[in-house]
Amino acid sequence: MASVNTRPSRVLSGMRPTGRLHLGHYHGVLKNWLRLQDEYECFFFIADWHALTTHYETPWVVGDNVWEMVIDWLACGVNPKLARLFIQSRVPEHAELHLLLSMITPLGWLERVPSFRDQQEQLHDRDLATYGFLGYPLLQAADVLIYKATEVPVGEDQVAHLELTREVARRFNHLYGREPDFEEKAQEAARKMGKKNARLYHQLRQRYQQEGDREALEVAYALLEGQPNITVADRERLYGYLDGSSRELLPEPEVLLTPTAKMPGLDGRKMSKSYGNTIGLREPADEVARKLRTMPTDPARVRRTDPGTPEKCPVWDFHKVYSDESTQQWVQQGCTTAGIGCLECKRCIIDAVEAELAPIRERAQEYEADPEQVRALIVDGCEQAREEARETLSEVRSAMGLEYR
Ligand code: TRP
Ligand code: SF4
Repeated sequence: MASVNTRPSRVLSGMRPTGRLHLGHYHGVLKNWLRLQDEYECFFFIADWHALTTHYETPWVVGDNVWEMVIDWLACGVNPKLARLFIQSRVPEHAELHLLLSMITPLGWLERVPSFRDQQEQLHDRDLATYGFLGYPLLQAADVLIYKATEVPVGEDQVAHLELTREVARRFNHLYGREPDFEEKAQEAARKMGKKNARLYHQLRQRYQQEGDREALEVAYALLEGQPNITVADRERLYGYLDGSSRELLPEPEVLLTPTAKMPGLDGRKMSKSYGNTIGLREPADEVARKLRTMPTDPARVRRTDPGTPEKCPVWDFHKVYSDESTQQWVQQGCTTAGIGCLECKRCIIDAVEAELAPIRERAQEYEADPEQVRALIVDGCEQAREEARETLSEVRSAMGLEYR
């Protein structure tokens, strides 16, 4: 759908298969994807090569987590009918684009990316002074640019990578520009829509470009959207010729920063595998309940009769995610007056988390029981993604003069 005043959006995002998914992923990423898949054309992929940059010594970790991650996505409601789901390494075009982009990317740009130094310092048990690790953000740029994604939903920590992606795209476009015969090709593409549509397209374009008529632009977007038989490349040309803005071969993507509630962990810090404070998406109910029952509370509440302060208690953070206004008031009142016990207070959380996880666990079981179905759907997604990737790559090769005949 062409939304108001913009070109149709395409969302792309990836996740590294380095461990099992937990509630932090669900609240921080997946719930957002569920919303996006209804609104945008979405590409979601398993970034297995990115996982290898840090896990090259234990590649089986990556292998073990690829299918588990797909199952978790599906169990959470990511829908392969709405979004294309695929595995990065099954679309080797990413690697070729990464290589080509590496030719034009100054070393300093990569060395300056903050995560490069930070991670090297944080993960000091691994040797990350590798070529692959340095190239991490550039591989990510290739992931994004190969699908001409317009929007990339990522967390704060990834913003610098998107900035690099934009810089690399700009540099590429500057160096190789658009096709030399762009205008002719656009005219030709217009003719492929049929005489009537082509005439309408040119009229609308003129109204927009000469009179700044935004409505004409939107009508023209809708016209292009409704053309089932033109190729992706032609469509791109027609959009570019129409609005005069994005004639570039590799459009610069925008960051889609999403206001997601930070999922607290069991110890009051952010939920994260490295803190060991997680609740896994497929953990059995009794294990989840045990973890919540034993999680720390406000240390001031030594005895049941000691009043406490919810703001000093990790359980309160869970209430902020899971409980409605009246339950939150009940906690505030009960905690500060010692009117309720901590186990009582945790009971609602245990129930709420279980209500969230039970259907996920159940759906996951269906997929676990039918691995062939899961594989088949990924094969499908990979094939669809590859088609798009091939198309962009062929334009890139041609722009760089690599299509020797
Ligand atoms: N680097 C991302 C992360 O660690 C994963 C990723 C790889 C990605 N390629 C991407 C995210 C492209 C968005 C777009 O979370
Ligand atoms: Fe924490 Fe609830 Fe106990 Fe207060 S009553 S300390 S909020 S668990």
